[in-house]
Amino acid sequence: MDIVLRSEPFATVEAEALITYVFEQDQPIRGVLAELDSLLGGRLQRMVEVGELRGKLYEMTLLHEPPGLAARRLLVVGAGKTEKFTGAELRRLAAAAVRYLKGRALSRLAFLAREEQRDAAAAQAVTEGLLLGDFEMDKYKTEKKDGSKAVESVALVGWPEAVHAAVVRGRVIAESQNFARELINEPSNRLTPRILAERAAALAAEEGLECDILDEKKIASLRMGGLLAVSQGSAEPPRLIVLRYRPANPRPGAPVLGLVGKAVTFDTGGISIKPSEGMEKMKYDMAGGATVIAVMRAVARLKPPIEVLCVVPATENMPGGRAQKPGDVYIAMSGKSVEVINTDAEGRLILADGLTYARQLGATHLVDAATLTGAIVVALANVNVGVFGTDDAFTQQLLDCAKVAGEKMWRMPLGDEYAEMIRSTIADIQNVGSGKGGGAITAAMFLREFVESEPWIHLDIAGTAWLDEAKPWSAKGATGVGLRTLVELTHRL
Ligand code: BES
Ligand code: MN
Ligand code: ZN
Repeated sequence: MDIVLRSEPFATVEAEALITYVFEQDQPIRGVLAELDSLLGGRLQRMVEVGELRGKLYEMTLLHEPPGLAARRLLVVGAGKTEKFTGAELRRLAAAAVRYLKGRALSRLAFLAREEQRDAAAAQAVTEGLLLGDFEMDKYKTEKKDGSKAVESVALVGWPEAVHAAVVRGRVIAESQNFARELINEPSNRLTPRILAERAAALAAEEGLECDILDEKKIASLRMGGLLAVSQGSAEPPRLIVLRYRPANPRPGAPVLGLVGKAVTFDTGGISIKPSEGMEKMKYDMAGGATVIAVMRAVARLKPPIEVLCVVPATENMPGGRAQKPGDVYIAMSGKSVEVINTDAEGRLILADGLTYARQLGATHLVDAATLTGAIVVALANVNVGVFGTDDAFTQQLLDCAKVAGEKMWRMPLGDEYAEMIRSTIADIQNVGSGKGGGAITAAMFLREFVESEPWIHLDIAGTAWLDEAKPWSAKGATGVGLRTLVELTHRL
């Protein structure tokens, strides 16, 4: 999709459809919309008066052959209440407009900004929305439906030329998020740990990142007991993926951000096998890993001033004659002994070794992302990412980034009371909490055992990495949640 800033008056911009938006409070119609309406002979105002153009969020009004415009159609999108309108709504509005129009096979579009949204942040949000809205999960469809034909071009109208850098930035971020979504949507037979590692290596070569792929022998020689325990039941060998970005002129003493992502390319549960209903979705259990790899793509292009590395343990979780069994004890890379009560709590086992390795590679600040627990869905539904953090300032910084990026995240507690729930009778710790409740927290507390004094944040994206149903602004399937927040963090740390 070409996205170009255009400085000419909106009336002369040629397009199959010109997109703009109206607020609930636009009674009467004001600003650039009033200018537009005078070309239309007051049609918009009359529609407002009869209650047909209400400005309800994502309400679509399509006018054909609007008089006075070079564009062949005018799409007015409802923008909701002005006081609730933020960059997040603007991003989704742009995405929803693209989805509505591409469903009508329209592919040369223009987007007209209202006066209040003519800054760089808004231009970035719109760019991101356009590209995210255009994404489809149709790779394996031999007959593409009309609605999946990609949009060719969008002219951005109303912004000054000075927002150009923000448009470039928005493109890098959205394309990186879509890169993550593509990986996450891949079925497990087409994205094994080895294939994921190859994809990461190819990305590193293209983008000029350092890359180290550890195979099963190297993983064994590093004594990554958790990754080995989970992978031993599978015919597919594990991989540990490391990507690294170093800035050209690092400031002395700058932090090193270590991103650790869970990549279970398929989670059957292992011997503690999952019910078959809905199990096909467990191909997305590598969303955390895909997301941090995609963050590295954005980082390579946006070049933040700090060093960033990602560590992605990748494996399948399978039952079988060689699989680990409930009650087994293994030694993690850190030296801690772990009793495996439930083989379906596998994510924390591989992340533990990933965190240990990221610390060994010099990370001073750690963030992990993982589809870790069903319990986070109980706590926060499919709405917020669960955020667990040891350091208040660092955690607040990440939550601030999430706000700017338009990703919903909610802080969850840690605490010593929960540590007691993962004490084992035979080993140092066990991989599930005893007693009822707090499953997302005991999972986070397990990970907490593998970090020391460095600020650490755990993102539980089990409820937010996947959409079961399409939304006006998004295709169903992988969301790529977390990417925008983490990219923002690389520029603020
Ligand atoms: N991958 C799952 C968590 C998950 C659940 C992701 C739903 C996406 C949607 C994880 O490995 C898992 O199985 N967790 C168990 C832990 C339990 C056995 C303590 C869970 O949440 O049920
Ligand atoms: Mn599991
Ligand atoms: Zn899992």
